[in-house]
Amino acid sequence: MAKIIYVECNGTEHSIEVPEGWNLMDGAVRNDVPGILGECGGSCACATCHLFVDPAWFDRLPAPELMERDLLECTAADRQANSRLGCQVKVTAALDGMVVRLPDRQT
Ligand code: FES
Repeated sequence: MAKIIYVECNGTEHSIEVPEGWNLMDGAVRNDVPGILGECGGSCACATCHLFVDPAWFDRLPAPELMERDLLECTAADRQANSRLGCQVKVTAALDGMVVRLPDRQT
């Protein structure tokens, strides 16, 4: 398990224990965290799992694959330098305590 802190755009925090092997989108959607949709079920096709990784954690993540980068560039609303697609970030124990922020809207 890793505790992931999801922060809604209004500042509401959700501290969720996410099993290792799940991804950040799973951890939010399966726990009813508002602001993340995951419409394609994690197949890197919708970008409705867009989130912002806290800068203190961003460099600890594996770099995004080309498909994720392309989808972020083409479809994610308000993309920033620390944007990721939640479904493409696998949760490991090393991410315990990570903070991610949710955009005010998904694509
Ligand atoms: S859930 Fe569709 S791209 Fe992540």
